[in-house]
Amino acid sequence: MNDVTIDRTGLFDIALNLLTARAIHVAAELRIADHLATGPASSARLAEATGTHEPSLYRLLRLLASVGLFSETAPRTFITTPRANALRSDIPGSLRPFVLHTLGLLYPAWGEMAHSIRTGEEAFTKAFGEPVWQYHADRSEANDLMNQVMSRESEVMIDDMVAAYDFSSFGTVVDVGGGEGALIAGVLAATPGVRGIVFDQPHVVSNALLRSAGLADRAKVVGGDFFDSVPGGGDAYILKWVLHDWNDENCIEILTSVRAAIPTGGTLLVAESVIEPGNDPAASKILDMVMLVLNGGQERTREQFETLLGRAGFHVKRVLPMVSSSTSLIEAIAVEPNQE
Ligand SMILES: C[S@@+](CC[C@H](N)C(=O)[O-])C[C@H]1O[C@@H](n2cnc3c(N)ncnc32)[C@H](O)[C@@H]1O
Repeated sequence: MNDVTIDRTGLFDIALNLLTARAIHVAAELRIADHLATGPASSARLAEATGTHEPSLYRLLRLLASVGLFSETAPRTFITTPRANALRSDIPGSLRPFVLHTLGLLYPAWGEMAHSIRTGEEAFTKAFGEPVWQYHADRSEANDLMNQVMSRESEVMIDDMVAAYDFSSFGTVVDVGGGEGALIAGVLAATPGVRGIVFDQPHVVSNALLRSAGLADRAKVVGGDFFDSVPGGGDAYILKWVLHDWNDENCIEILTSVRAAIPTGGTLLVAESVIEPGNDPAASKILDMVMLVLNGGQERTREQFETLLGRAGFHVKRVLPMVSSSTSLIEAIAVEPNQE
């Protein structure tokens, strides 16, 4: 065995990242970043504010300071950092809902990953007793958290999206699986002549966000099931982070509903991570595992999107990368089946 090269330390460090991530989850639950928003605080004061055991909280903060969350400016006294600020609950694009959801609520699912690798099937049901979307439909707290994750992610992406793509030639844009409407709100705010429709499951859609943005008069919310049909009347349809939730056959069903609503020549915008060739590190390759475990879904390469969309009557025109996000915007045109 002497000629075998071993990077034991490298592997050890990667393996331990799981526990650092869980420590970030604890900090998010305890709202440490919120507590530090107004200035430095000792671990004793933070322990009092969060009802925790000071020596253990200090050790958590020391670990997180070692990875750039918080900084110890005097013995046992901490300040926040830009990385920790991303956990604050009061900032646009806060990562706190994502951390609470992915590293907390969904955590038992990751323990079942091997089931997905053995079978190619989702593992969420093994961990939670029912499929992921049913689980969220049955629990309003989980549903609210999921919607917050999506809305915060849309908030950070919208500037990029409207910079990358000109929506002004459209009359009505339909966001299919559009959650609480954060994305359509961003599109409407940036493009005054456009009207919007947000379509999602009945327990998800709401016009609260559009109302608070003063956009409710230009947007409609519609509840339904995209496996049955999606609203007609749009000249552009958006599917953001929807297809990656589903396997190819489910995607064809969703895309078939969308194709039935879009006139030939109409535009479909698919916002998804596009997996690049090669084995460089990429968030999309981790999210690919997330999608597999949660719902048997997957992230896809450009070729896979072209094939999938082609099967449902769409021709991929171009793929626009977005600057500050791993998500790309795939512009596709609805064509007659024999044109693809
Ligand atoms: C990953 S989220 C993306 C949300 C939103 N597009 C965004 O990027 O913020 C997927 C969305 O699909 C919706 N969805 C799941 N199953 C659905 C169905 N059968 N019909 C309509 N929407 C559905 C979910 O409620 C959720 O809002």
